Amino acid sequence: MAAQNENPSAGVPASGLSGRAAGSPRPLHVAIVMDGNGRWAKQRGLPRTLGHRAGVEALKRTVAAAPDLNIGWLTVFGFSTENWSRPAAEVSELMALPKRYFESDIVRLERDGVRVRVLGQREGLSPDLVRIIEDAQARTAKNDRFALNIAFNYGGQADIVEAARRFAEEVAAGRARPEDLDTALFSSRLATAESPPPDVVIRPSGEQRLSNFLLWESAYAEFVFQDVLWPDYGPEHLKAALQAFAGRERRYGAVLPDDVLAAG
Ligand code: IPE
Ligand code: MG
Repeated sequence: MAAQNENPSAGVPASGLSGRAAGSPRPLHVAIVMDGNGRWAKQRGLPRTLGHRAGVEALKRTVAAAPDLNIGWLTVFGFSTENWSRPAAEVSELMALPKRYFESDIVRLERDGVRVRVLGQREGLSPDLVRIIEDAQARTAKNDRFALNIAFNYGGQADIVEAARRFAEEVAAGRARPEDLDTALFSSRLATAESPPPDVVIRPSGEQRLSNFLLWESAYAEFVFQDVLWPDYGPEHLKAALQAFAGRERRYGAVLPDDVLAAG
């Protein structure tokens, strides 16, 4: 049976990611845990840093392929709040990746209508990196063809705690009441507030866990795990993941009308 890709609670953001005929299913939000760079390098007898650089090339291929696959939002996990515990040399290579990516691609992203957002805490990042991030966001802020969210220094739990703390501060200041809080309001305080919830979360490299990525947002996401290391990822893998997704039946905790009749 064809997937029901319409999440009734998912609103298309104000930007609209225009160009869709009224009534057609909204574009998908795909989230990817970019994993396997280290193993890819190890298999080749290369330093892990080269695995991460190859991972950036995979990201470029994936971003280029996504709009033609009815993907409107792509959220990728680039650096987690837990990745700080890696060796300093590797952390510093990972910190250099956004600069590497934006230096080579920002003009193309800008031109192709991609709106870039970097989700995660700025605290802990170098001022230089923060400037590069802010610049990329500002340059692409008005784009609405495709949204690319890069989770960098991001952790799902930290994001939830931050949203809770901000709401508590508003209550303490008398600007909100505890009873105002519901799931929609809480969602609007998360780093992903501008995107609908992810429809599908993809994790390559054979690992099958969420690793603190989009904890709240993936409540009703479909998960697709693929046995390919991220640096080898390309349009064919993305297509295969979407094919797996299309075969899923999404019920959002309800039952399908046919099953209601059958039970009656
Ligand atoms: C993903 O590749 C990149 C980041 C987590 C930043 P890994 O570095 O996790 O690669 P493996 O899992 O060791 O192969
Ligand atoms: Mg890994």
